[in-house]
Amino acid sequence: MEHYYKLNEWNIIEQGFNSDKNEISESIFSLGNGYMGQRANFEEEYSGTSLQGNYIAGVYYPDKTRVGWWKNGYPEYFAKVLNSTNWIGIDIKINDITLDLAKCTVKEFERVLNMKKGYLQRSFKATLSNGNEIEVTSKRFISMIRGEIGVIKYAIKPLNFSGKLEITPYLDGDVMNSDSNYDEKFWDEISKEVNPYAGYLLLKTKKLDFHICTYMNYEITVNDKIIKPVIALNQSEKYVASTALIYCNENDEVIIYKYVANTSSRYYDISKLVRITKELSSKAKKDGFEMLLKEQADAWKEKWKESDIVIEGDISAQQGIRFNIFQLNQTYTGEDHRLNIGPKGFTGEKYGGSTYWDTEAYCIPFYLSTSEEKVSKNLLLYRYKQLDKAIENATKLGFTNGAALYPMVTMNGEECHNEWEITFEEIHRNGAIAYATYNYVNYTGDKSCLGEFSFEVLAAISRFWAQRATFSKSRNKYVILGVTGPNEYENNVNNNWYTNRIACWTLTYTLEVINYLNQNEPERLSELNKKLNFKDDEIITWKNIIENMYYPCNEELGIFLQQDGYMDKEQILVKDLDKKNLPINQKWSWDRILRSCFIKQADVLQGIYLFEQDYNTDTIKRNFDFYEQRTVHESSLSPCIHTILAAKIGNYDKAYEMYLRTSRLDLDNYNNDTKDGCHSTSMAGTWMAVVHGFGGLRVIDNKLVLNPIIPDHWKSCSFKIIFRGALLNIKFNADFLQIQNEKDVAVDLSVYKKDYRLNGNDLLEVKI
Ligand code: BGC
Repeated sequence: MEHYYKLNEWNIIEQGFNSDKNEISESIFSLGNGYMGQRANFEEEYSGTSLQGNYIAGVYYPDKTRVGWWKNGYPEYFAKVLNSTNWIGIDIKINDITLDLAKCTVKEFERVLNMKKGYLQRSFKATLSNGNEIEVTSKRFISMIRGEIGVIKYAIKPLNFSGKLEITPYLDGDVMNSDSNYDEKFWDEISKEVNPYAGYLLLKTKKLDFHICTYMNYEITVNDKIIKPVIALNQSEKYVASTALIYCNENDEVIIYKYVANTSSRYYDISKLVRITKELSSKAKKDGFEMLLKEQADAWKEKWKESDIVIEGDISAQQGIRFNIFQLNQTYTGEDHRLNIGPKGFTGEKYGGSTYWDTEAYCIPFYLSTSEEKVSKNLLLYRYKQLDKAIENATKLGFTNGAALYPMVTMNGEECHNEWEITFEEIHRNGAIAYATYNYVNYTGDKSCLGEFSFEVLAAISRFWAQRATFSKSRNKYVILGVTGPNEYENNVNNNWYTNRIACWTLTYTLEVINYLNQNEPERLSELNKKLNFKDDEIITWKNIIENMYYPCNEELGIFLQQDGYMDKEQILVKDLDKKNLPINQKWSWDRILRSCFIKQADVLQGIYLFEQDYNTDTIKRNFDFYEQRTVHESSLSPCIHTILAAKIGNYDKAYEMYLRTSRLDLDNYNNDTKDGCHSTSMAGTWMAVVHGFGGLRVIDNKLVLNPIIPDHWKSCSFKIIFRGALLNIKFNADFLQIQNEKDVAVDLSVYKKDYRLNGNDLLEVKI
């Protein structure tokens, strides 16, 4: 595979200016800090193709639904993460000509994302239409320490002339979402002000009243001396700018430092927003660029200490995993239970920045192993706080008795998705939300959430499954009709194996939780039973469904069948499909996709991944070999699950191939869609591919199980995980495995099927 970005362990490097790749690079070089983020747009004007994006976590807009044909039950709106004030803007004019890379000759263009220290740097030489040549270097970052702060250092050097330079730092809130349903703008201006060297905008969303204040302070130096040039102020609706006029000599170095704070009414009182934002921005300016940059590098050093994965001997694999971990840490920090992880993080508008099942099915394992428990617990709490809305949603669809259907896509708990085959039918998402509780309890051993809030969630989801299953007289079994499984290239199918499986698993797990609470927190259980009006009859029904659920399978092939009738399809393998058909979602009509046997993402295999302990290796292998060959991996969430299962069954070549695909999905633009944004949630899947796949990590009966294998292409691999108070540094190669316990807490381990107790600060070495 050709790599457009240079291979490097710690940096993503783009060399040469390729305007046709600009939107892809804008996604790849995105910055964020969990509180806000942005695409890598240029500071100066750019008239070429670009998707502008600045986002503030949790600030969204309910954009009125637009569909071809309205169906009863559709949501009224689609919540969108908002493109908000463009705070990076710095327009440059040289002898009256605007610097615009689409309109001048560009040389030595380089963009570098420094993942070790957390900043983005861009440099180039440009010759304008009047022959003036300049050199520009810009460096910017979004502070990991000061959530609201973003900083830019923008340096310009005239290379072959002396003359007039106009520098215009600005804030522009007159922005749109490119996916706005009715071409509307979503912001209103409340107030603004601009002074020499400073300015602010206070805006409010047209609906929901989110207020955002953006404050800039800037200063200019020439050859390292602060100057006070002539300033012209400019303002218009939702826009403030301040132009500095400078006469400079050839080879002078002119630098503008821009210090910006972005605050929102989600965290501060509206009446205090302007004052607080000004203070934050002014404090950043006082502390200065270099100090903030050092702070940033130190913060990233700490992050990497906890979450780095080191792969020796394979630079493309190393770069891939670091890029994924970097983006994950930029997207979600877990401090605020009202926030979640959108499939594109802060790197684009697609998917509305909302919450999907991705969080529970793919992201929670990453946060469980690399962050304190509170982070994953906050993700569970997020859903608990939205339980009422999930019950309302199910009620709207005709379910009763407190049954809950969590939305496919949501910001505040309300369903936003509006394609019937997903909104109403892709109900397996409910199961992933239940599974997250199991994952949390199984990994951390902390059962306090069960009585505190999780039982309520589990009971409501179980009530949904019990009502959604139908008893089929002809089969004398329970069936689940009219669903879409994880493989969205099949709609409205009956008995999707995965959905039937996770439905019954939820019922079983909820019964286990009832048992646990009965034995350990009986008073709390009776309180909850009263609150939920929970009757023993329900338990009888659930048991009946569990015992009598129908699971489609093909005896001859010894596999579980994705759904009823799957074998009626013409069976073609992906390897036999002419490459010009791929990706089928961009090349084929929808009906052709639906009629084909091709699978978008792990479906039966998703179930086998979750419930692996229930199947022997032969069964896993048969299903893997059958389904993998029919899977086009056109969801980013697919290759990671395939890596894990391939490693499990000893198909290491396939595991490695799938690993590269998941870890370099965006860097190598595998699915030809990185321009829309990076696949942030699948990045957690990449982490799972290494740790669960090659590391073989599982937690079984309170024991940490490890079965590492090293791909041939790697010399060694190491990763760190937090497990029940211990911090384990795990390193392996083809000959040995080392586990260093970096905390003073003992842990029980099973390594290559042998049990160990690893005491605090001890080292375990195992020959392979
Ligand atoms: C996948 C879904 C996923 C969504 C957001 C879709 O392409 O099929 O499983 O939830 O993307 O990542």
